[in-house]
Amino acid sequence: MKKKIISKGSTKPKVKPPDEEAAAKKKKSLIMPHEQLLINNREWAKEESIKDPEFFHRLAHVQSPKFLWIGCSDSRVPADRITGTQPGEIFVHRNIANMVVHTDINLLAVLEYAVFHLKVEHIIVCGHYNCGGVKAAMTQHNFGIINKWIRNIKDVYRIHRDEIDFQTKEDERLNRLIELNVQEQVMNLAKTSIVQKAWKEHKRPHLHGWVYGLEDGLLKPVCEMNHGDHLDPLYEFDDL
Ligand code: CO
Repeated sequence: MKKKIISKGSTKPKVKPPDEEAAAKKKKSLIMPHEQLLINNREWAKEESIKDPEFFHRLAHVQSPKFLWIGCSDSRVPADRITGTQPGEIFVHRNIANMVVHTDINLLAVLEYAVFHLKVEHIIVCGHYNCGGVKAAMTQHNFGIINKWIRNIKDVYRIHRDEIDFQTKEDERLNRLIELNVQEQVMNLAKTSIVQKAWKEHKRPHLHGWVYGLEDGLLKPVCEMNHGDHLDPLYEFDDL
């Protein structure tokens, strides 16, 4: 006796997506990641123009930001997003671990331009907890050319070694160095003739050191310096 063969699957033919839908899907999957940025940009420009038809026209002719932001290059710390500011409001310089290195011509040009041409009122050095640059500086690994940069962070560690090593946990040591590094970079700003000259002549800019928390999205102020504050006299110019 022959066994009956019972089909488990549905006997209905599967509904194929229409050709157009399939083509659109294929096209979308063919968009390269960088092309998606250009698509996003067109959408953004369109939305901004609808919200405020004068937006681009206004910004195209003048920028008068009140803030210079010196932040880490880390992609998770976008200056404008985390401060709720718009294009035109913050002049930005970013590098690994938000350093103010006194021989860095890039930083110095940005600083000079921001202070004397844009006349910014505030300079914010913003670090962030769990910073990879600072973490790298605490190791003994060879990072090639990057060694040159993180040497500056190692110097901060050396200056504050007792306080940092006093922390018992590794992440606490890292986060303390991150705070102290921000403080040290604010002092590095104050050591420049650019800031000292502006303090003397214009009583600005105000310097702020902040640290951003990747875990909670919050900015924590850790230090500030203003005109009238003093450094080790060794770093103070008396003939500006
Ligand atoms: Co970082």
